[in-house]
Amino acid sequence: MTIDATARAHPNMALVKYWGKRDEQIMLPSTGSLSMTLDEFPTTTTVQLREDHGPDVLELNGAVAQGEPLRRVTRFLDLVRERAGSEARAVVRSRNEVPTGAGLASSASGFAALATAASAVYELPQDTRSLSRLARRGSGSACRSIIDRMAVWHAGEDDATSFAEQIEAPELAMVVVVVDAGGKKVSSREAMRLTAATSPFAAAWRASTARTLEEMLAACREGDVERIGELAETNALRMHAVIQSTVPSVRYLRGASVGVFDAIEQLRADGLQAWGTADAGPNVVAITRPADAAAVADALAGHGEVRVVRPGPGARLVDERVAPVSTGEVR
Ligand code: PMV
Repeated sequence: MTIDATARAHPNMALVKYWGKRDEQIMLPSTGSLSMTLDEFPTTTTVQLREDHGPDVLELNGAVAQGEPLRRVTRFLDLVRERAGSEARAVVRSRNEVPTGAGLASSASGFAALATAASAVYELPQDTRSLSRLARRGSGSACRSIIDRMAVWHAGEDDATSFAEQIEAPELAMVVVVVDAGGKKVSSREAMRLTAATSPFAAAWRASTARTLEEMLAACREGDVERIGELAETNALRMHAVIQSTVPSVRYLRGASVGVFDAIEQLRADGLQAWGTADAGPNVVAITRPADAAAVADALAGHGEVRVVRPGPGARLVDERVAPVSTGEVR
């Protein structure tokens, strides 16, 4: 049996957002969604089986993690163990190159890498669909980070039918504008619950997103970048609208974030094609064509740290290992 395995995964940025669960227990989303896997900000995770029967351990960015992050990893590994018929606990060492909790979806790259490494050590099926279904159980959007470049997540009817797969799409670039690298106050899980429980617009959000996904799939097939950008910006602003309509209201966008959306609108008025999106955090991402990415990045640089990203690889096993915290040595 393999004793350890390491996987690397990247975050993904949704062009049609996942916001709401139909079944929280097995992480079925209320609608499908569509995203680009990024080529930057990877998470690398080593899963090593323990031979000494101690508890699961999580080492995150060079420090031992406790509390909710450890509980989430243990719950996830419990599912893996149940499926594998194993009782072995594990040490999970994870290194994140994305600002954790800043709405750049470190949970997506994190659970995609964990699902891939854990499936290797616990000897679970390692085909793309199985990995996507498993990653979904850790964090919904993680099922899309298993996939290369552009992914559609089929909402599905049950555990077997809710997974992401690759789609063909025109070449895109994104400019990430980090206006605030701090953590978010309300987790997406919590805010999704609040949306379903308190927003009068939740049903309209679900219906419009299902329609938008169909239109987005058509725009991707046709290679229509302008339509993709318009649909993505509208869908993102609708998501933030439904989030803000909760009681109490949750607002992820700050003044600085709105400033970036304004700047993107101005770029369009000046003849440069770019469209804005934002996940459950204050950072804004401009969607554009690769040829325009440098100009868009220059134009937005005054609003925060900017990074140009392109379509990236899905989760993969890698040869290196994440070094343990205690000794700094690779075992
Ligand atoms: O998978 P979660 O619970 O981190 O939810 C992610 C939700 C958004 O990032 C806001 C939208 C999306 O589709 O990625």
